[in-house]
Amino acid sequence: MSTPFRARHLIIGAGFSGLGMARAFAKANIPYDQVDAADHIGGNWYQGVYNHVHLVSSKRTTEYTDFPMPQDYPDFPNAKQMLDYLDCYASFFQLNDQIELKKNVMTAYPRSDHRWHVTFEDGESRIYRGLVICNGHHWSPRHPEYPGKFSGSYLHSKEYKSTDVLRGKRVLVIGAGNSACDIAVDAAREAEEAHISMRSGHWILPKTIFGAPLTDHLRPWMPQFVQRALVRLLVRMFIGKYSAYGLQQPKHGVFDKHPTINSLLPYYVHHGVIKVHPAVKSWNGKEVTFTDGSRREFDVVVAATGFRVTFPFLPDGTIPVKGVIPQIPFGSFHDRYKGLYVIGWMQPRIGVGPLIAAGGPMICEFIRAEERMVGPLGAVLGRLGVGIPKTNVGDGHQLLRRIAVGRRIARFLPAIERLVFKHPVRKAAMETARPSQAARADNPKTASSAARGRTKAGRHAAPVTQAPVSTHGPPISARESS
Ligand SMILES: Cc1cc2nc3c(=O)[nH]c(=O)nc-3n(C[C@H](O)[C@H](O)[C@H](O)COP(=O)(O)OP(=O)(O)OC[C@H]3O[C@@H](n4cnc5c(N)ncnc54)[C@H](O)[C@@H]3O)c2cc1C
Ligand SMILES: NC(=O)c1ccc[n+]([C@@H]2O[C@H](COP(=O)([O-])OP(=O)(O)OC[C@H]3O[C@@H](n4cnc5c(N)ncnc54)[C@H](OP(=O)(O)O)[C@@H]3O)[C@@H](O)[C@H]2O)c1
Repeated sequence: MSTPFRARHLIIGAGFSGLGMARAFAKANIPYDQVDAADHIGGNWYQGVYNHVHLVSSKRTTEYTDFPMPQDYPDFPNAKQMLDYLDCYASFFQLNDQIELKKNVMTAYPRSDHRWHVTFEDGESRIYRGLVICNGHHWSPRHPEYPGKFSGSYLHSKEYKSTDVLRGKRVLVIGAGNSACDIAVDAAREAEEAHISMRSGHWILPKTIFGAPLTDHLRPWMPQFVQRALVRLLVRMFIGKYSAYGLQQPKHGVFDKHPTINSLLPYYVHHGVIKVHPAVKSWNGKEVTFTDGSRREFDVVVAATGFRVTFPFLPDGTIPVKGVIPQIPFGSFHDRYKGLYVIGWMQPRIGVGPLIAAGGPMICEFIRAEERMVGPLGAVLGRLGVGIPKTNVGDGHQLLRRIAVGRRIARFLPAIERLVFKHPVRKAAMETARPSQAARADNPKTASSAARGRTKAGRHAAPVTQAPVSTHGPPISARESS
């Protein structure tokens, strides 16, 4: 039986990003399907975070701009309120009928006709015109490695769901990001001993200032240097020197890395309840040795050491990732494949909602433009100077300005393509990549054997190694009808 072609795009994921994309597609009247591996929508806010977490970004800077959070929500809603909000959003914009739950994408192979062959864990296969990847990037834990073996209880922040695991224990938290500081503060309240190991200095910022969330003070009209200067000044006023807490002074500028927002960590450090250590050097049994030579025994180690950005269902090399940055223009648009869009990997300084609410319509306009183009969108954007991002830390306001520019130029992209890619340069540049024989899905035999090579252990299982996509195919010749 041949695999059915769906003349539409597939949105992978129904979390904050995927729901925002679905709303934009529906509004723009672009046909789509949407799937999520989980049995409920909401992504992280359904099952990916510890149950007592509150936002670090304020509700005002996190809500979708076209769907404000309820008036009676606090400045920093908790996970349940976030999930309720996303449920209301999906109901209000009638997105649920379009979402297939418990539908795990196992493989997505590019075909030589620029369509995408998708297989699901339940055995079904479909061919799609394009993929909008909103699979979330706080799922695949990054573990630290040290010489020796720790014999106490070890978990990654991803597995941390409640304070029960800390109660009455000697706890070491590794990391200095928002997860590490939140969990260290939990340990300060629940554990027998609370320790934190930071391998580098971080900007740890107060959550509220002058009675309002810190993120609300960073106004869109403020240039970057003003925002940085303001934050440095506020840190000086409200926290002082980090060395006064035994914390390392950050070597990077404010906002060069994702900031840590936590008013309670310095508070508990000053009370002597949280003890600060440098990086871990090694561990043996329950004893951990730090780089300053000090040693201590712990019952529990929580590695809050962050996450990897992965696309486990794509053939290896389809979207190369360096560090946590997809190596494609804007981190979102491929320069070798048509119909491939990556959303939600960036860590905006403000919350995700405004960026998704503005980015969704831009993606829709780009999709319409790409349908009228010979080659992939990313190739043209690349020629216009849209590069590979250097950092995953997004200045939300700057991103919003770029999105506005993107929307203004979207409809001119086909004409720009004709102008900038002149024969023979145009021909060469417009050749889109064709998957290697091992990864090709237009050959059912090779595709299914490649798919079989994949583990069924779960949606975030490591991808099988495949030859990177390399050979070039002809430009797409005919426009498909929807
Ligand atoms: C502890 C914690 C606190 C946070 N606090 C904040 C905050 O204060 N402010 C903020 O803006 N952000 C915060 N975040 C970031 C948070 O990830 C985003 O708010 C938001 O959830 C990202 O949405 P998303 O849709 O991109 O990803 P996710 O919420 O991760 O959703 C991705 C969805 O894709 C589905 N999926 C993945 N792979 C597949 C597949 N192969 N097939 C089918 N479905 C698949 C998943 O099941 C999931 O439902 C926090 C994150 C964590 C971990
Ligand atoms: N309350 C909240 O709203 C909340 C809570 C938790 C998380 N979040 C969000 O979730 C996302 C992920 O945050 P996160 O804190 O889990 O990850 P993160 O921001 O990536 O931070 C990871 C931390 O681990 C350190 N680290 C990485 N590898 C290490 C190693 N091998 N050894 C020692 N330390 C190592 C990093 O230090 P270096 O900088 O030196 O690499 C960094 O301090 C962020 O967007 C964050 O804002 C929000």
